[in-house]
Amino acid sequence: MRTSKNISPILEIRDLKKSFGDKDVLNGFNLKLFEGENLVVMGKSGSGKSVMVKCLVGLIQADSGIIRIKEQDIEVLGRAELDLLRTHIGFLFQGSALYDSMTVRENLEFPLRRHKKQLKMEEDTESLVLEALKNVGLEHTLDSMPSELSGGMQRRVALARALILKPEIILYDEPTTGLDPITSKEIIQLMRNIQETYNTSSLIITHDVDCARVISNRMILLVDGINYAEGSFEELAKSQDPKVQAFFKT
Ligand SMILES: Nc1ncnc2c1ncn2[C@@H]1O[C@H](COP(=O)(O)OP(=O)(O)OP(=O)(O)O)[C@@H](O)[C@H]1O
Ligand SMILES: [Mg+2]
Repeated sequence: MRTSKNISPILEIRDLKKSFGDKDVLNGFNLKLFEGENLVVMGKSGSGKSVMVKCLVGLIQADSGIIRIKEQDIEVLGRAELDLLRTHIGFLFQGSALYDSMTVRENLEFPLRRHKKQLKMEEDTESLVLEALKNVGLEHTLDSMPSELSGGMQRRVALARALILKPEIILYDEPTTGLDPITSKEIIQLMRNIQETYNTSSLIITHDVDCARVISNRMILLVDGINYAEGSFEELAKSQDPKVQAFFKT
C-alpha cells in the first residue's frame, strides 16, 4: 500500500463549497485519496457527506472548488472525456438504488451499455456480469428481481454493479447502513476482498464506527462543512477534542 504524500493523489478535492439557499453545507472541504488506500469520511447525518460524493461524480454541481480525478481537473473536461473518466469510478449509492423493474442481470448490464462506446473491454457482457456477481457470491440470483432479494443481498448486487467496469476508484456511500451487524460484517469483508483483488482506491462514507475501524487506512471527519480532523482510526479515537470524541462514543 502506498500512501506517501509525494505521490500525487488519484482523487483530490480542494476547497469545495456548496450551499442550498442560505444553508451552507460544504464550506471549503479538502480531501486526497491515494492509490490503493481505504479512506473513510465520517460525519453526522446531514453534514454533507452524500452532497460531497455527489459533487465528485457530477450529480450535484458544486458552487466552487477543484475536483481532480486521475490528475485531471473535471471542470475543464468535455463531455466525452468526462464520460471516459467516469468509467474508472464505481459508485455504491446510499441505500443500494437498484432499478426495481429490472432483473439483477439487467441492473448489472446497465453501466456496461451506458459506457459501451468508451469501453474497449474484451470480455463479453455475460462473463462480466457473472464475474461481478461471483465476487459478491450471488451468481444464482442472475434472473431474480431486486424485490425477491433480502436487503443484504440487494446491497451486494449494488456492489457488483459498482464493480462491473473494474474501476480503479470506488466510492461507497454508507455501505453498511440499515443492515444487521452480521450482514454488515459480510459487506465489509467483501469490500476488503475487492480491494485486495483489484487494488482499488476506495473512498468510504460511513457513520458506522465498526466499519471505519476495520476498513480505514486513514480517516477524515467532516464537521461544519470542512475536514475538521484527519488521521488513523487509533489517532482520532484517542483525541481529546470533544467534536472528535463525539464520533467514538457509543
Ligand atoms: N438537492 C438538495 N436540495 C436541497 N438541499 C439538499 C439537497 N441535497 C442535500 N441537501 C441538504 O444538504 C444537507 C446535507 O445532506 P447530505 O445528504 O449530504 O447529508 P449526509 O451527511 O449524507 O447525511 P446522512 O448521514 O443522513 O446520509 C442536508 O441538510 C440536506 O437537507
Ligand atoms: Mg448521506
